[in-house]
Amino acid sequence: MINVLFAGCGRISDLHALGYRDNPLGRIYGIYDPDREKAKIKGALWQAEKIYSSYEEALADPNVHLVEILTPHHLHCEMAVAAAQAGKQISLQKPMALNLKEANQIIAAAESAGVTLRIYENFVYYPPYVKVKELIDNGEIGEPLSFNLRVRCGRGAKAWDVPLDAWQWRFNPQTGGGCPIMFDHNYHNCSLALYLLGAVEKVSAWIDQSEVIPGSGLLINVPAMVMWKYRRGKSYGNMDVVMAPELEIDTEHYADESRLEITGNRGILFVNRCTGRLQNRPPVELYRDGITTAYENISAGWEESFIAATRDLILSLSEGKSARLSGQNGKAALEFTLAINESACSGQTIILQEEYNQKE
Ligand SMILES: NC(=O)c1ccc[n+]([C@@H]2O[C@H](COP(=O)([O-])OP(=O)(O)OC[C@H]3O[C@@H](n4cnc5c(N)ncnc54)[C@H](O)[C@@H]3O)[C@@H](O)[C@H]2O)c1
Repeated sequence: MINVLFAGCGRISDLHALGYRDNPLGRIYGIYDPDREKAKIKGALWQAEKIYSSYEEALADPNVHLVEILTPHHLHCEMAVAAAQAGKQISLQKPMALNLKEANQIIAAAESAGVTLRIYENFVYYPPYVKVKELIDNGEIGEPLSFNLRVRCGRGAKAWDVPLDAWQWRFNPQTGGGCPIMFDHNYHNCSLALYLLGAVEKVSAWIDQSEVIPGSGLLINVPAMVMWKYRRGKSYGNMDVVMAPELEIDTEHYADESRLEITGNRGILFVNRCTGRLQNRPPVELYRDGITTAYENISAGWEESFIAATRDLILSLSEGKSARLSGQNGKAALEFTLAINESACSGQTIILQEEYNQKE
C-alpha cells in the first residue's frame, strides 16, 4: 500500500482523490494545506490518517511514500526539491514550474535523490485521446499531416464552482504565470499535441486580450491563434482559442471544451469533447474511404482522465517502474507553452530545443 501525502487540497484535489477510491495499491494517507479548516474537511471526507501542521512535518514522516504536489505554480519548485531531498516519490501537477530554470532544478533534485518524478497531466490519459493515439499508431489515418484543436471557453450552468482565490493567483505573473488560459490551461493542449504527434520544431502565435467580464477591466489572454511545425515529416499543428462568454457548454467541471481533428494521408480522426461537450456526437469518429466509424463506447467524462492518471502512477510505483510523464517530457511541454507566449510577445517564430519521448 503506497501512502500518499496531498500537499495542497484545493479545487483539483477533488479529482485526484477519485483515483484512490477502492484502490488496493495506494491511499490518501496524509494532508498538508495551510488552510487548516479545508484540510480537516477533506481529511474527514477521504479518511486520511494524518493532517500535518507543516510541510516539513509531513516530509519527515517515514510513512509517507509519495507526495502529490497540488499547489499554485510558484510553489512547485521548492516543494518538489524538498520532497526529493526527503527521499519521497513525487507527483507534481502541471505546469511543473514557471520557467525552464526551475524545471531543471526539479529534474536534477529528483535524479540526485534517485526518486520518481512524475509531472501530472490528465489530458494524455483522457480515454478518447488515448483511443486516438492507438488509432494513429495503428496507421488508421496513414501518415499524420495536420493537428487542429479548437478550444472554446464559455459558461456552464452545471459547471463546478471555482473559488475566487483559485483564480486570483493564476492572474498574478509571480504565482501563476499571469495567463490563466494561454499558460495554465494551454499547457494541457501542448502536452496533448506532443503526446499525439511527437516533438515540435518551431512555433508562431498571435495572442490578443479580452475583458473577462465586459466592463470589468480584468483582461485575459484570448483570442489566440497558434501554429507549429512538428519534427516528424510534413506534419503541422494549429490551435485557436476563443472565449465566448455566452456560449453554453455542457460540463460538470470547467466551462471550456476542445474539439480535435487530426488528418492523415488516408483518413481523419475527430475527438468531439473533452472537459465539456457541445454537439451530441460520439466521443471519437474515424473517417476513411467514404465511411465514418463512431467509437461510442468510450468513457468520456473528464474525471476519467484523472482516475486513469492516478491509477497508472500508483500501479507503476507498486511495480517498481517509472511512471509515464517524465520530468523531461514535462519540461518539453513547458517549453512549448512558454514559446507560444514568447512568440506572441516578440512577433518572432520560436525554435524549440527540448527532446520529447512519446513513450515516457
Ligand atoms: N490537471 C488539471 O486539469 C488541473 C486543473 C486545475 C488545477 N491544476 C493544477 O493544480 C494545482 C493547484 O490548482 P487548484 O486549482 O487546485 O488551486 P487552488 O487554489 O484551488 O488550490 C491550491 C491549494 O494549495 C494550498 N496551498 C497554498 N500554499 C501551500 C503550501 N505551501 N503547501 C501546501 N498547500 C498550499 C491552498 O491553500 C489551496 O488549498 C496548480 O498547479 C494547477 O495548475 C490542474
